[in-house]
Amino acid sequence: MNSVTIKYSQIVMPQDANILGTLFGGQMVSWMDIAAAKAVHRFLKESKADAALTRAIDAIEFKEPVHVGNWVNFEARITSTGNSSISIKVDAYKETKLVQNILACTARFTFVSVKKMDDGTYQKVDHCMVIG
Ligand SMILES: CC(C)(COP(=O)(O)OP(=O)(O)OC[C@H]1O[C@@H](n2cnc3c(N)ncnc32)[C@H](O)[C@@H]1OP(=O)(O)O)[C@@H](O)C(=O)NCCC(=O)NCCS
Repeated sequence: MNSVTIKYSQIVMPQDANILGTLFGGQMVSWMDIAAAKAVHRFLKESKADAALTRAIDAIEFKEPVHVGNWVNFEARITSTGNSSISIKVDAYKETKLVQNILACTARFTFVSVKKMDDGTYQKVDHCMVIG
């Protein structure tokens, strides 16, 4: 299967800011997690998995502050696959009135595909999907 890349955007509202008036890091991570989840959702459409869960977030780097009123444009790309795992690179670009796209934050996510059991719990499942 071809790799999957998705786009997702958010505008930074006052309630997303920290005490300095810039985007709170935890909010940024939450949005990046959603962007990764969207890529994984699309990637697993033909698989037998019911869903996928965030297993790890690595190499997160906050490179530039983002301010209230800025747009944040996310790009999430599936980079590799394991048996149940899926690796996703997420880049977050800030867009202001003056600049189109400045890389503000980057991270690597690992999701694990799961199946819902009869008792309501989730167990990992091989997704049998490869990119290449
Ligand atoms: C996801 C979950 C069901 C996986 O079950 P598990 O039996 O513990 O399986 P493991 O996590 O050991 O391994 C699953 C895969 O993740 C990989 N993995 C485990 N830890 C990892 C890490 N730190 N970084 C990257 N990959 C990792 C394993 O190598 C394995 O990959 P593979 O199947 O492709 O070979 C379980 O860990 C879980 O429920 N975690 C909580 C998830 C959660 O609540 N997320 C937040 C909300 S979405």
